[in-house]
Amino acid sequence: MPTAIVTGGARGLGRVYCVALAGAGFDIVVADVLNATETVDEIEAGGGRAIGCRTDVSSAGDNEALAAAAAGAFGTIDVLINNAAYYSQIVRGPFNEVTQEEWDRTFEINVRGAWLACCAVHPYMKKQGSGKIINISSTTCFKGTVGFPHYVASKSAVIGLTRCLAEELGPDGITVNAVTPDLIPDPSLRPSDAASDQFVVAGRSIKRTQVPDDMVGTILYLAGRGSDFVTGQNIVVNGGAFYQ
Ligand SMILES: NC(=O)c1ccc[n+]([C@@H]2O[C@H](COP(=O)([O-])OP(=O)(O)OC[C@H]3O[C@@H](n4cnc5c(N)ncnc54)[C@H](O)[C@@H]3O)[C@@H](O)[C@H]2O)c1
Repeated sequence: MPTAIVTGGARGLGRVYCVALAGAGFDIVVADVLNATETVDEIEAGGGRAIGCRTDVSSAGDNEALAAAAAGAFGTIDVLINNAAYYSQIVRGPFNEVTQEEWDRTFEINVRGAWLACCAVHPYMKKQGSGKIINISSTTCFKGTVGFPHYVASKSAVIGLTRCLAEELGPDGITVNAVTPDLIPDPSLRPSDAASDQFVVAGRSIKRTQVPDDMVGTILYLAGRGSDFVTGQNIVVNGGAFYQ
């Protein structure tokens, strides 16, 4: 069975990706700073195989240990989803009031973390001659959400990283793509989502709230053989809002 690592898989969208990939026949490695037991239990209850791996993606050592644990448990690393992010807990504010600590923390996790995870899985994927890396960006990149300059800049960097690594890793048989969700509200973690959602829905072709399951088809497509000749792309899953 192929193996997928999902960073930030202990909750939220990452957990949905883990369960969906397990349903599609992947063995799953759930990498998170949080305890991943609930995700692992959900997968196992559905008949799948999964392990949790406590990982801070901003740490090179943690990423190397993660890749070793994945290969040790399941033999190969076929898919990496760079989903972990400093997002729900981020401190928003006017651009010139964001602290340097917040700025750096955002980039440490969202950009350095994605890059380090790619570095860690690369030797395994290169040896196999195949692999699929999926980086999660955000539509805030195209809209420039006020109060969020550090996050928006970090998620824009993820698209740049995607294009750069697609070029460099293509000869190794590795595809690198980005997937960009729009606002998918989680009022329990982000109370302001509810108000923002009304505004966002109005700008869409499909006028409803985006839900986590809306992302699953695109994730499975980029993780599967059907996308073998697709690399360096960014697929925006947003119900058809158009940005210039
Ligand atoms: N929910 C949305 O509206 C939305 C929209 C666009 C993009 N996104 C992106 O989708 C992804 C998932 O978002 P979400 O809504 O599930 O967010 P979330 O905050 O609920 O989940 C983020 C996950 O990453 C983990 N994480 C945080 N720091 C980490 C670290 N240093 N190392 C390892 N894991 C870490 C968290 O523990 C959590 O499980 C993120 O990349 C986010 O930027 C979300």
